[in-house]
Amino acid sequence: MPEYQTFEHDVLVIGAGGAGLRAAIEASAGGASVGIVCKSLLGKAHTVMAEGGIAAALANVDERDNWKVHFADTMRGGQYLNNWRMAELHAREAPDRVRELEAWGALFDRTKDGRILQRNFGGHKYPRLAHVGDRTGLEMIRTLQDHGVHRGIDVHMECTVLPLLKDGDRVAGAFGYERERGRFHLFKSKAIVLATGGIGRAYKITSNSWEYTGDGQALAYHCGAELMDMEFVQFHPTGMVWPPSVQGILVTEGVRGEGGVLQNREGKRFMFEDIPELYKSQTADNPEEGWRYCQGDRNARRPPELLTRDHVARCIVREIKAGRGSPHGGVFLDISWIKQKLPNAAEHIRKKLPSMYHQFKQLADIDITKEPMEVGPTTHYMMGGVRVDGDTQMSTVPGLFAAGEVAAGLHGANRLGGNSLSDLLVFGQRAGKFAAQFAREHTGSRIDAAEVDQAARRALEPFERKGAGTEGPYQIQHELQEMMQNLVGIVRNETEMLRALEGVHKLRGRARRVGVHGNREYNPGWHTALDLDNLLTVSEAITLSALERKESRGAHFREDCPNQESALGKVNTFVRKGPDGLMQVRREPLAEMRGELKQIIEEMK
Ligand code: FUM
Repeated sequence: MPEYQTFEHDVLVIGAGGAGLRAAIEASAGGASVGIVCKSLLGKAHTVMAEGGIAAALANVDERDNWKVHFADTMRGGQYLNNWRMAELHAREAPDRVRELEAWGALFDRTKDGRILQRNFGGHKYPRLAHVGDRTGLEMIRTLQDHGVHRGIDVHMECTVLPLLKDGDRVAGAFGYERERGRFHLFKSKAIVLATGGIGRAYKITSNSWEYTGDGQALAYHCGAELMDMEFVQFHPTGMVWPPSVQGILVTEGVRGEGGVLQNREGKRFMFEDIPELYKSQTADNPEEGWRYCQGDRNARRPPELLTRDHVARCIVREIKAGRGSPHGGVFLDISWIKQKLPNAAEHIRKKLPSMYHQFKQLADIDITKEPMEVGPTTHYMMGGVRVDGDTQMSTVPGLFAAGEVAAGLHGANRLGGNSLSDLLVFGQRAGKFAAQFAREHTGSRIDAAEVDQAARRALEPFERKGAGTEGPYQIQHELQEMMQNLVGIVRNETEMLRALEGVHKLRGRARRVGVHGNREYNPGWHTALDLDNLLTVSEAITLSALERKESRGAHFREDCPNQESALGKVNTFVRKGPDGLMQVRREPLAEMRGELKQIIEEMK
């Protein structure tokens, strides 16, 4: 029987980005003993890729802002598929969560009168993103990590969870391995919070680093939870395209918030050519007005570069496909042009966008104060995920909670930039609070030793497969990423998605024959082999859900069904594991929105 070490916590948090850390802090404040598991080193999380700011209606820069406007913007951005209760809680509670973060030591850029500075971002009516240059996510992680460590939370670093374990219907623990020595860990726990982030590594071009293989979504699915709206994958319009080794790395929307413009190879600002009806009244139709908006003119309308991400990404793809792209297959993003407007433009750019300045200088030998960047869409974020209760964040499995990117609901069909960081804070706090409460109200549960033994043996199987017919884990991962990028990407159609579904099934068959060499200590081939099931599970869920939604809405665009269907605007898509072990997909009507909230949306229109 393989050996393992056992740890026991009231609440186990899986994932140590913004949502996980915030949940762990709150659960600990609620009196629970807390363990936090991170796949990588503490502090290395995709949260740092939300560079431009935290969306919260603090109204520091424009006093017309308030939670109602933020709520209406979030719902419109999500094409009204959002869980309205989550959108309400998020808009109401984000300002307090930001102020709390500041009280815990987070530094922010300041207005002239000393308040937290806020900047413009796509789809937000007023300047709403509290920020520190273009390093906001990093500052958030630094602050939460500091605060969490001082609360005495146990941290299990470089540890990957394989299955979740149950006692009857209830979640009872988790089993995993640590990377350094390859030893197994059993975590017994009364409640678990999933905060594992996204699925970016299911695609070839992504802003996500190696950890983001859909672990939380797959863990929840296999333990009986429902996944929701998995067709909605966000392709951030601007990632680096050159050199190839850095393709996909994020170029913050903050560049456009500070006045950066998108141009094709003919020097044309192509975003002016396609302004959606829904946003026409709010969008500038000339460059001068767009620039005035970025400079804080309250009467100006936003430049079309600050339309929602789904739309901007599609316009970029259109330019590239039409042969009007940049030399390396993107388009141009230019912030250097502001030297025509500001005498100290170079200094201003370096101050507002320090990371972008260094990123392009060091990785692409481009000085963004003097020349344009080349950018193209990159897989950035998953709007879908684990179905949760809007108030408590508990999934459909008792004792299993989810917060942040791994959870679905808040963002509907498309997330507004900056709403990710506020999501992490608001729902991380809620998940931690209710997980601690669940742990208080329940006794410890029983874990079946045979189930643990089976999990350990399954994890070791790749070492036993040798000889003809074995497959390499990297090849399967690579083929899956290529396939999802090409067949279930920004522009989709039924024929290609059916091919992708068949491809996922074939790759799953091959993944069962994966063999690895070496031993258990720091063995990346073995780790990749163990990630494959998660990648295949989320890829299947994305493809099935995308086939089910026969329309185009938000981030889900089908060239064979290019219109919105009003009936489909009233349903979410769900997947779950059927009794036969196969993935089932279904639709369910959205819950009826409270009258007061409907009225807010009507007024804001
Ligand atoms: O562009 C950005 O800075 C990303 C922000 C976000 O995804 O929220």
